[in-house]
Amino acid sequence: MNLILLGPPGAGKGTQAKRLEDGRGLVQLSTGDMLRAAVASGSEVGNQAKAIMERGELVSDDIMIAMIKDRIQQPDCANGFILDGFPRTTAQAEALDVMLADMGLALDHVVEMKVDDTALVERITGRYSCAKCGAGYHDEFQKPAKEGICDSCGSSEFSRRKDDNAETVTSRLASYHTQTAPLLPYYDGKGVLAGVDGMAEIDEVTRQIEAVLEEG
Ligand code: AP5
Repeated sequence: MNLILLGPPGAGKGTQAKRLEDGRGLVQLSTGDMLRAAVASGSEVGNQAKAIMERGELVSDDIMIAMIKDRIQQPDCANGFILDGFPRTTAQAEALDVMLADMGLALDHVVEMKVDDTALVERITGRYSCAKCGAGYHDEFQKPAKEGICDSCGSSEFSRRKDDNAETVTSRLASYHTQTAPLLPYYDGKGVLAGVDGMAEIDEVTRQIEAVLEEG
């Protein structure tokens, strides 16, 4: 099964993709994570992307399409994948259609995660992750069971993303509304779009996504 989780920054795409990865054996393809790895490695792509990401703007379609095209052809994607953060523009969506057709693959579902803009700012500014294994947490909504200790690996080191501040979130939301939201009618027209209530609690959102996937 191949699917896209589509929604604004902080909608819970990464949180739910991790759950689907664990539960269904699908591979999470997060373009944000790929870019952050490129920035950390100091590669040419990373150096080009760094300032753009810190401003909350979108990295060029050429870079993003090449990145996903390369990743989607890796053997671990053969059993199905979850696109998290891609596509984000009509050009990316059209390029994805061509990629999938060339590989003889279909897109089974596009799940829109609907969340109010005001809730997104709260979610993003409270987000942090384990510096060692990357497990995600939130100051209020998703605390580790034991304060200061990662549930997954036991590390006590945590970090916050550089673009997770109120100013950059405003710019990321603007990018979403102008460049990414037009993909909703694009996928609706293809008959693959379904919406879930991203304002619900994390477990309930998972349940709603699973219900969409069970529909076939
Ligand atoms: P990216 O990393 O993709 O960031 P994003 O889309 O802004 O999404 P986030 O990772 O911020 O949010 P999320 O929806 O995954 O939410 P999460 O599950 O963490 O992209 C970063 C940048 O890279 C972009 O700005 C752009 O510059 C560049 N980029 C990436 N892809 C690109 C592309 N294709 N083209 C061009 N540029 C690209 O949840 C957020 C928080 O809320 C967490 O703390 C979580 O615990 C909590 N939470 C989750 N669900 C719930 C819930 N139901 N209730 C309460 N809290 C919840």
